Amino acid sequence: MLGTASESKKKIYQIIYGSWQSQCLYVATSLGIPNLLRSGAKTVETIAEKTGTKAENLYVVLRALAHLGVFAEKPGRVFAPTELSELLLTDGSPSVGHFLMHITEPNMWDAWRELENSLKTGKVPFELAKGQDFYSSYMTENPNSKRLFNNAMSFLTNEAVEPLFEAYDFSRFKTVMDLGGNQGTLIANIVKKFGCKGILFDLPHEVETAPNNLSKYGVSDAVQVIGGSALDSLPKGADAIVMKYFISVFSKEDSIKVLTNCREALPADGKVILIQTLVPSLGAPVEYPDGTIPGLAAVQMMITNPGGYWRTEQEYRDLFEASGFQLEQVVHTGTSLTVMEFSLQ
Ligand SMILES: C[S@@+](CC[C@H](N)C(=O)[O-])C[C@H]1O[C@@H](n2cnc3c(N)ncnc32)[C@H](O)[C@@H]1O
Repeated sequence: MLGTASESKKKIYQIIYGSWQSQCLYVATSLGIPNLLRSGAKTVETIAEKTGTKAENLYVVLRALAHLGVFAEKPGRVFAPTELSELLLTDGSPSVGHFLMHITEPNMWDAWRELENSLKTGKVPFELAKGQDFYSSYMTENPNSKRLFNNAMSFLTNEAVEPLFEAYDFSRFKTVMDLGGNQGTLIANIVKKFGCKGILFDLPHEVETAPNNLSKYGVSDAVQVIGGSALDSLPKGADAIVMKYFISVFSKEDSIKVLTNCREALPADGKVILIQTLVPSLGAPVEYPDGTIPGLAAVQMMITNPGGYWRTEQEYRDLFEASGFQLEQVVHTGTSLTVMEFSLQ
């Protein structure tokens, strides 16, 4: 609860400034400035020369980011890296920088501009802005956006696996299928850690590029890669289907379609393992310790997803029950991810 009127004003201004902050962060990262400063502090003139920008204007942006703690400004218009800017490196393995670039790239802002329109029409903002759906046609035709998206997904998975595996044991399964498993980072980790077989299922254009990632984990022989749409049908052979940030892609109606396909693909004692950030129910804390505000992230999901967004535990439970599943257990991982395990009714 905010105390005084001025605290309220400060809070509302902070919210308003949010888009300025992320735009400055996007521009600096897109120009590769965190990468550039890794070798040491540089003057704004040097940074401008190396990034093909105008030093006078660039200075205004870098100073703003220094005031936010992203860079450190030294006398003589010199900028140095900080712990924050080191999180934004994009020239190595998947990082927060890739996540930032995916979430804030201009194509995404184009879609956000359609939010009000979408609330009135019920259409998907991304589709209103771009005239094509995000996961299939847009991703197929825009390899740079796809690279940023896939790196963002791999980064989030890499961050999550250790606490996930401490909280939830996959060793009782013979074959795990990762539905909407993107480039296979999660299934590769599961197979490696628990010694089971894996199936990676995602849209054809995604699985086309996944073998390269799987080979980095040395699990190419243990993971079968299958392309298709989960809305059509699913391959048999797995005794567990894992879905991380996947069912939240779909509308209620399509979710039930996908879950019905899961039911048909699984043996009678099969399990579906939902791995998801849950939106808190009314009255529960709205923010996780890592800063995730799921209710806000749910809006971002609605911007791109064909009808889906992040839901509450009860909403997922209802969705699965409507598709012939019953909840077996809920496991909190200590991060913003929760595991909900379902069996067939
Ligand atoms: C938000 S991403 C989550 C990726 C991954 N599970 C993770 O947590 O990193 C959703 C994934 O679902 C895939 N997807 C979207 N629609 C699909 C469909 N109809 N059938 C199969 N996969 C689909 C996308 O290609 C994407 O990889």
